[in-house]
Amino acid sequence: MTQVPSIAEEQTAKSSSSSKSVKLRIAKYNPEHDGESKFMEFSIPYERWTTVLEAILKVKKHFDHSVAVRYSCRQATCGSCGMIINGKPRLACFTKISELDSDVVTVEPMNNFPIIRDLAVRFERLFDTHNKVKPYLIREDSEIKSNEKEFLQSPEEVEQYIQFSNCIKCGLCNSACPTMATDSSFIGPQALAQAYRYVADSRDKGKDTRLKIIDESHGIWRCHFAGSCSQVCPKGVDPAMGIQFLRGYLLGFRS
Ligand code: SF4
Ligand code: FES
Repeated sequence: MTQVPSIAEEQTAKSSSSSKSVKLRIAKYNPEHDGESKFMEFSIPYERWTTVLEAILKVKKHFDHSVAVRYSCRQATCGSCGMIINGKPRLACFTKISELDSDVVTVEPMNNFPIIRDLAVRFERLFDTHNKVKPYLIREDSEIKSNEKEFLQSPEEVEQYIQFSNCIKCGLCNSACPTMATDSSFIGPQALAQAYRYVADSRDKGKDTRLKIIDESHGIWRCHFAGSCSQVCPKGVDPAMGIQFLRGYLLGFRS
């Protein structure tokens, strides 16, 4: 049985306002020599505002510096700290322990991503599929080279795609997607949402190119519309809606 180390006494000495502790269970796994993942447990004091990432960093500081976790901005901007927290894909820096309403917090690596070690996963597939849909404005070369023209848009035209431009490439949507779990070649909700982001941009001329890219055997038609991608997005992007709109273009309902 795993021992539960605690930093409660030390923390209490530093901060009298700390009143609660949570049991933090961290999945430890090194694919190079471990047969299966094991959980290490720690008792961590927390405040109302303490995030799961901060709790993991306390473990790294006080008990086990080898815990592998990726993070950078600590403010839900860089997209680095996605993981499964109590069974759901979430950003660790954007998830407060107090909001989970549980005495136990279990953290695991994201599903549908190869594990590097512990909570850190490989992002190559996500970035490959993201690049595949050409995530940039496509215009004629002559238009881009002549710096004389602005490509103005009305507020209504911006409204068509603006929520999709909030994507931080965290991969939570791909982690939640049941089709990603069964089809290792599926393009995935993140890339499809970004395809829609540019197809719906009135300044872009790459619609036909992108529609051709996603209209293939492991492309848009593999989506079963489970909708789990949209439920977990921390930035309010709705990949499932983007996928439906893209299907509208492909079926001739939108132009
Ligand atoms: S659509 Fe949302 S969940 Fe998916 S990668 Fe972008 S920000 Fe993350
Ligand atoms: S650390 Fe950047 S999104 Fe969490």
